[in-house]
Amino acid sequence: NGLLGKVWDDNMSIKMLGTRLKKVVANYQAMNKYGVDVSSSSSRPKLSGPELLCQLKEKVDVVTLTSDLLPFSSLPWASQLPPKLLTSDLGPYKTCAVVSSAGSLHRSGLGKEIDSHDAVLRFNAAPVSGYEKDVGSKTTVRLINSQVMASDEHRFLSSSLYSTGVLVAWDPAPFSADLTQWYNKTDYPIFTQYQRYRKLHPLQPFYILHPRFEWQVWQRIQDNMAEPIQKNPPSSGFLGTVLMMSLCDVVHVYEFLPSRRKTELCHYYQRFYDAACTLGAYHPLLYEKNLVKRMNQASDLDIYTHGRVTLPGLSKLNC
Ligand code: C5P
Repeated sequence: NGLLGKVWDDNMSIKMLGTRLKKVVANYQAMNKYGVDVSSSSSRPKLSGPELLCQLKEKVDVVTLTSDLLPFSSLPWASQLPPKLLTSDLGPYKTCAVVSSAGSLHRSGLGKEIDSHDAVLRFNAAPVSGYEKDVGSKTTVRLINSQVMASDEHRFLSSSLYSTGVLVAWDPAPFSADLTQWYNKTDYPIFTQYQRYRKLHPLQPFYILHPRFEWQVWQRIQDNMAEPIQKNPPSSGFLGTVLMMSLCDVVHVYEFLPSRRKTELCHYYQRFYDAACTLGAYHPLLYEKNLVKRMNQASDLDIYTHGRVTLPGLSKLNC
């Protein structure tokens, strides 16, 4: 089958990258900004898709910060945090779409299909206005990183881009997932920006991911790879995919595994080219894609033509 060689190979390794990217990834693999502490397991049996799915279900808690959690509960702004978990407030949905921001969405014509889902997840500054034909117009949840919240360029507090749907934010936290340690040393000022945004938009639901979730997802990737992965948190794309797997019966992820439209164009909404956007540099994105490929329940042809992966909701699994 000629297609098989054209879609994502689930054994992708840093060895297959070009010289420049290989160096960047190797650098990140050696760096350990967040104090990742891994006990190297010597034998790693290669798990099947269903086994990987069950690991996600059993070993990852999809948790968000709530107002009753220390140290937040002792702070004057605690009441700005939601009282309940995202997973108890939202869903369950029958079908969900996760829209990666990849350049290969450009001219995909996937908009109608994406909008036909009960819930749609988008990332960071990804717009819909002007791109409806390719990415749809529905936004149920937007997952944003703390860098987007903090940078002047994105105008997080004032741009209407962020005012649709439920917001979920995350920040690369210390591996210990200790909340006080993190609160005193965030990567970007996520809590300051959260408080400001909540004052301006008090009615819009806004959650923050618990760092335990980030690193539990990271551990699933590392435990199932034969080589050391970057000691940095997973990309928004993979965090969002696991998040939606906890809210939906079926999740379709678009252009996370590149289709026949595969391109070095970084985002569908910007004229910026860099293969690192698709293959990863800071994030262990290459390895996330290996796992998603192994968990995919649909065909390689779906990936090739639609850039579409089908994953089951975690509640639908019989483990
Ligand atoms: O760049 P940004 O993080 O906003 O994009 C959202 C997610 O989409 C990424 O975290 C990554 O998982 C995925 N992505 C991708 N290939 C690209 C661009 C983004 O897989 N070219």
